[in-house]
Amino acid sequence: MRDPALETPDAGAVQIVRNVEDLRARLAAWRLGGARIALVPTMGALHAGHMSLVTAARENADKIVMSIFVNPTQFAPTEDFAAYPRSLEADAEKFASAGGDLVFAPATETMYPEGFATMLAPGGPAEAGLEDKFRPTHFAGVATIVAKLLVQCRPDAAVFGEKDYQQLMVVERLVRDLDFETRIVAAPIVREPDGLALSSRNVYLSADERARAPRLHAALARCAEEIRKGRAVVAALKSAKAFVGTAGFVTDYLEARHAETLAAIDSAADGPMRLLVAARLGRTRLIDNLPV
Ligand code: PAF
Repeated sequence: MRDPALETPDAGAVQIVRNVEDLRARLAAWRLGGARIALVPTMGALHAGHMSLVTAARENADKIVMSIFVNPTQFAPTEDFAAYPRSLEADAEKFASAGGDLVFAPATETMYPEGFATMLAPGGPAEAGLEDKFRPTHFAGVATIVAKLLVQCRPDAAVFGEKDYQQLMVVERLVRDLDFETRIVAAPIVREPDGLALSSRNVYLSADERARAPRLHAALARCAEEIRKGRAVVAALKSAKAFVGTAGFVTDYLEARHAETLAAIDSAADGPMRLLVAARLGRTRLIDNLPV
């Protein structure tokens, strides 16, 4: 039976809790009933990519909690924290219709109370020279908030999308290094029919940019194919960068890395290999990746 004291106004059929005490009470009741719990950490603005994380969570647990929190510490002062799309009620409805059970939507002061002074300093994949080169404080923010969410929820499994591939590697390292018992589940990238990876930031694209954006994935797909056929990695990457440039992108990086360590590799024989790209189209920065 649901404890009325834990209830807050809900959207659709899903309950929204705002503080850690209510979250823990709800999860403790589920655990007592023998339920396995999966966490889907998000920053909201849900799209079909997030729904695929919910599906993966369902395959790994009986109850699904989604955290919706736009985490300020993973944004640099120059980035889009203020403008980041926020749509809690609509998100909760989407989550409910995908079969989700509970939304955890804390206020900033709940996650970072007055006097907060402890940030994690992730190394290894967080220092691979990819996203971290362009967003030097980003993974400290991600690692800190993910660690907090894992401590608050103590889920059996937590689902992260392969779209943020470096983030996935950082989280896997974090969980191993700090002995979290949560199993990390990786969910494949969901794409539009034209290949563009789904992202909450795609809403920033103008109609013209949206038409050119799929070239990012096309460049990776062609590059991966060429490498598989034996073309030198350096040459294949050079062509891919040129192709992305002709679509109007300014490339931050387009690289071939070891899929697990993210170390630079220049031969598929040193793999498994993953291609990773970040590029700016107008004011929108897009990332993507593909296995070779
Ligand atoms: O991938 C995201 O949406 C965020 O980086 C995460 C994992 C929810 C942490 O804020």
